[in-house]
Amino acid sequence: MRPKDLKSPFSWDARCPSIIGNVLFVPDHYTEHQNFKLPDWKELFENNNPIHIEYCSGNGEWVISQAKQNPHINWIAVEKQFPRVRKIWSKSQNRQVNNLFIICGEALTFTQNYIKRPTFSAFHVNFPDPWPKTRHAKHRIIQQPFADEIARCALPGATATFVTDDKPYATQMLQVITDHSIWQNPTHTILKEGSGESYFDRLWRSKGRQIHQINSINC
Ligand SMILES: C[S@@+](CC[C@H](N)C(=O)[O-])C[C@H]1O[C@@H](n2cnc3c(N)ncnc32)[C@H](O)[C@@H]1O
Repeated sequence: MRPKDLKSPFSWDARCPSIIGNVLFVPDHYTEHQNFKLPDWKELFENNNPIHIEYCSGNGEWVISQAKQNPHINWIAVEKQFPRVRKIWSKSQNRQVNNLFIICGEALTFTQNYIKRPTFSAFHVNFPDPWPKTRHAKHRIIQQPFADEIARCALPGATATFVTDDKPYATQMLQVITDHSIWQNPTHTILKEGSGESYFDRLWRSKGRQIHQINSINC
């Protein structure tokens, strides 16, 4: 399979949520999410295994390798850029990954509109865009609304793990999670080893950057 073998299911005017194979398309600037009936995850994955979700999956290297290594966990990759979703999808097809579902959509839009109850055992965000300029920091994904949403969707004992090379963003991540009542025992560590297979992990390590990990648990 090549990335372009996954076709966009709609033109801008005709866009609507839809599922093609293992991909759910969640349109932006759309007001009728509530009319779409998402099947149960048990039906989509054809089992009741725990579900781990990665937001900002990029080309999917990390989540694909995790899904291969952990076949008894169901994985969800959330990525807003269609060209990158195509890459995740083609990898999942070519490597016969059966425990991965892909969301082509914006992280908060998907979570707010499609997840109705506590669902996830682990949340991962690896190298989210750091938006280093002060005037752009408002675009960072890890802020209070995101922490609220993942708290609402977390099963008891769920973990949240955020990884970044950007020290100010790591400080913000720790603050956001510390301020939130359900996220307990937050830790901030510098990862000596790779955080798994990831383009950005390799890139920043090759440039000698420190990799920060923020961890917490829903107690
Ligand atoms: C710096 S890349 C990191 C990719 C990957 N996690 C890695 O480690 O190689 C950040 C990715 O997050 C995606 N992204 C940024 N904001 C997002 C959002 N709000 N919802 C979904 N994806 C988002 C971008 O499109 C981009 O692919």
